[in-house]
Amino acid sequence: MDSTRSQTESPSSLESPAAESALRGKVVTVVGGSRGIGFAIAQAAARAGATVVIIARETARLRVAAKELGGVLTLRADVTQELQTVRAFRVLGGNCGHLDVLVNSAGMFTYKPFERTTIKDWSLNLKGNLTSVFLATRAALPLLVESQGQVVNILSVSSRHAFANCSAYTAAKFGALGLTRVLAEELRPKGIRVSAILPGATNTRLVRAFGFPVDRERLVQPEDVAQAVLSVILAPRHATVAETVITPSGGSV
Ligand SMILES: NC(=O)c1ccc[n+]([C@@H]2O[C@H](COP(=O)([O-])OP(=O)(O)OC[C@H]3O[C@@H](n4cnc5c(N)ncnc54)[C@H](OP(=O)(O)O)[C@@H]3O)[C@@H](O)[C@H]2O)c1
Repeated sequence: MDSTRSQTESPSSLESPAAESALRGKVVTVVGGSRGIGFAIAQAAARAGATVVIIARETARLRVAAKELGGVLTLRADVTQELQTVRAFRVLGGNCGHLDVLVNSAGMFTYKPFERTTIKDWSLNLKGNLTSVFLATRAALPLLVESQGQVVNILSVSSRHAFANCSAYTAAKFGALGLTRVLAEELRPKGIRVSAILPGATNTRLVRAFGFPVDRERLVQPEDVAQAVLSVILAPRHATVAETVITPSGGSV
């Protein structure tokens, strides 16, 4: 694995030498780390000194992301597919030896009235936003048990609130929050902390699927979510930040 690190500027809260080494020696894997929120999380973790692994489907974008991040391991896998997911975490274990933090940030979004939502839309949303969390977490579990690690799931305000025209996405994100809460209870005795981040509309590729124009400057920025993830990861072992909601200050779009 390449060990060079990105030379880009650090956000102000990560400028002290202590912050730059806060995650030194830790392996942080971001599923969906090639773009958007996941990419910003990978960047923040790398700046804090972690060994970073990113997982996504599109090889070309993984390459670009790796170049921008500097010194990360990239793994190509569709985490809605069990075999690919299991293989990816096997390779990860072989390369890194251990895993401290799993961030599940893969997801997709469909904006459609219920009566036009097809079974394909339904299935894509359930697989992309819920099955993906199940498969990646299960595949990572042996490594997380060994390290008494952490799981951080990037969910959504749609895990708690209903918005019109998002039935398939909302069903999946409510399910993913339910799964997160069960995991938190089941994995607690194994010393594994499980947290959820619930962002509102965030300035990434995903908002192109919104069925109306949005002012991207008004949205939460991916770096804001990354900052929240970092504070969850850096909380002392005796404290679990269970659920963090982060929304545009001007209200929902
Ligand atoms: N943006 C928002 O407004 C918003 C708001 C609330 C919650 N969220 C949630 O935040 C998470 C990240 O979204 P984002 O806005 O950052 O989206 P994004 O910019 O589209 O990034 C999604 C990332 O996940 C990867 N991915 C998607 N499906 C995958 C799969 N089946 N297997 C492996 N990798 C996969 C993508 O790469 P490939 O396509 O190459 O696989 C990409 O790296 C999602 O769970 C989303 O629901 C987003």
